[in-house]
Amino acid sequence: DRKIRIAPSILSADFANFGAEIRAIQDQGADWVHVDVMDGHFVPNLTFGPPAVQAFRPHVSTFMDVHLMIAPVDPHIEAYARAGADMITAHVEAGPHPHRTLQAIRAAGAKAGIAMNPGTPPEAVEYLLDLCDMVLVMTVNPGFGGQKFIHGQVDKIARLRGMIGDRPILVQVDGGIDPATAPIVAQAGADVLVAGSAVFKGGSVDQPQIYGDNIRAI
Ligand code: DX5
Ligand code: ZN
Repeated sequence: DRKIRIAPSILSADFANFGAEIRAIQDQGADWVHVDVMDGHFVPNLTFGPPAVQAFRPHVSTFMDVHLMIAPVDPHIEAYARAGADMITAHVEAGPHPHRTLQAIRAAGAKAGIAMNPGTPPEAVEYLLDLCDMVLVMTVNPGFGGQKFIHGQVDKIARLRGMIGDRPILVQVDGGIDPATAPIVAQAGADVLVAGSAVFKGGSVDQPQIYGDNIRAI
C-alpha cells in the first residue's frame, strides 16, 4: 500500500553522457534522480560541483535529489539550491550545527534531508526531525557505488520509522540496494530506495531498456 520510490544514483552512470543517462532512467521508470556530491574530504571521492548540477537540471523532469557528502556543508547550500536541487540532503556528521544546516536548506527553497553514516545511531537526528522532509540511512560507507549492503543497518531503519511516527518525513536508504536487499529495507520502513550499480549495470544510453528491467527488478 505504501508507495516505494526508486531513485537511481547517477554516480554509476556514464560520466560522458549525463543528460542522455538522466533522460533514459526517467523514461525507464525512475521516480527521482539521485545526485551524489562528494568533496574528497568528508568522503574519499570527488564528484560534482554546482555547475554540473546546473547542467543536469534541464534533463531532470522528475525530482533532483542531491546528496551532499561534503564538510563543511553550510557554505555550499545556496549554490546547490540555485543550481536547481529539489531536495538537499546533508550529513549529520558534517559539522556541529545540523539544526542550522537544515534551516538553511529550507531557507534556500529546497526540501531538507539529513543523512546518517553506518556508525551513527538514529538518536543523532531525534531533535532534527521537525526540520526534515527526509532522513537518509546509509547502508554502505559513503564514497563509492557498487559496495556491499550493510545488513546491520536494517534495525536502524525500523527504529527511525518508530521515531518518525506519523510525521510526513520520508525514509531513504542508500547503498547496496538491489533485488535481494530492496524487499528487506522496504519491509523495515524505507520509502525511497537509492540504487546506482543495480540500475546502471549492463545498460547504456544505447540500451536503456536494460535500465527499465533493472528498475522493475528492484
Ligand atoms: C555512496 C552514494 C550512493 C551510491 C549507491 O556514497 O551515496 O548513492 O551511489 O551506489 P550503489 O547502489 O551501487 O551502492
Ligand atoms: Zn547517495
